[in-house]
Amino acid sequence: MTSLKTYNTFGVDALAPELLVVESGEQLLELLSTRAKRPYLILGGGSNVLFRQSPGGAVLLNRIKGKVVVEETDSEVTVGIGAGENWHELVLWTLEHNWGGLENLSLIPGTVGAAPIQNIGAYGVELKDTFAGLEAIELRSGEELVFSMEDCAFGYRDSYFKRAGKGKYFITRVYLTLQKQPVVNVSYGAIKEVLQAANIDQPTIQDVSRAVVEIRSSKLPDPALIGNAGSFFKNPELEAERFYRLEAEYPQIPHFSAPGGRVKVPAGWLIEQCGWKGQRRGNACCYEKQALVLVNLGGATGAEIWALAQEIMASVKEKFGVVLEVEVNVI
Ligand code: FAD
Ligand code: EPU
Repeated sequence: MTSLKTYNTFGVDALAPELLVVESGEQLLELLSTRAKRPYLILGGGSNVLFRQSPGGAVLLNRIKGKVVVEETDSEVTVGIGAGENWHELVLWTLEHNWGGLENLSLIPGTVGAAPIQNIGAYGVELKDTFAGLEAIELRSGEELVFSMEDCAFGYRDSYFKRAGKGKYFITRVYLTLQKQPVVNVSYGAIKEVLQAANIDQPTIQDVSRAVVEIRSSKLPDPALIGNAGSFFKNPELEAERFYRLEAEYPQIPHFSAPGGRVKVPAGWLIEQCGWKGQRRGNACCYEKQALVLVNLGGATGAEIWALAQEIMASVKEKFGVVLEVEVNVI
């Protein structure tokens, strides 16, 4: 048995019957062919999982490395990235080359291979905006497959890999198309404010990245210091009519337009309004600077964090009639 405490950013304890480090697709194929068929749990950086219990099967720790340019034109470059590469180090590498597209996604913890699972997003940009395809290995059959944008069915914090494809594939390589003459995206209010405060009116992608790092560092807890998995819940997207009824009762409710005429409401606001910000249950706590983030103050179990999440969901449902959806992958 191996403790998974240092392999998940919540820092909760769980035991894996086996921990197998995967450094290449070939090694994974070999491993799968020599073992009886059984369930596996894939882990990258462990920054989006909560262990309520120990996983039933062996853990495959993705450490597949490599960054290559696979295609280049005057305006674009397509890169193929080993799924075990660290996401933020990839972003820094693209910034060094002045390739635009990932700057708004700076400082998101975890690996490149996990990025398509929930179509990572931040500050007005999602993985799908640069996504050019991925390679994966089906765990049961050992079949090597290629997934297009369409196959991945990306949505807000959602993809095929969180639905019908859940737990079935090991993503080994991700392809991204980046811009050689980057156009910055500063549509997200907080970025504009930080750039203005620094008197930057013609921001480069490097400026945008620095602004994003500054904003994130000011409100999100650093997992190296305080256990967490980022936003614990998704921001609910309400039918317009339903939102207007809520707005009539709570005129100050923040909101953003979402696809299909729906309205996105920040779950952090709903949770804060229910009085949860900074509240703790033992060592599980609703983070004092960002109510959407649950933290482990030290020694909390996955079950305790889950119990806090349940309490929060129940009170948001009671006060606003809104059912929060969990964003983190609960094991
Ligand atoms: P893990 O936690 O290891 O795995 C997550 C899920 O993906 C699991 O179900 C796992 O089985 C599966 N998986 C992992 N790798 C593979 C693979 N190679 N093939 C198949 N399945 C795989 N997310 C955002 O979208 N936006 C944010 O702004 C953001 N901010 C965050 C801030 C903080 C402080 C933290 C701690 C997390 C944040 N996250 C954010 C969540 C997290 O960083 C992302 O979901 C990230 O992509 C997870 O990567 P990981 O390698 O740690 O995945
Ligand atoms: N808010 C509150 N109280 C809080 C937190 C938020 O009132 O405690 C309200 C404020 O009105 C604020 C608004 O919510 O203006 C939005 O807050 P913030 O900009 O911090 O973003 P978020 O909606 O809480 C989402 C993502 C983050 C991502 C940021 C930036 C989800 C579930 N979360 O958070 O992603 O980094 O936007 O784009 O969509 C993650 O997925 O782990 C994650 C951190």
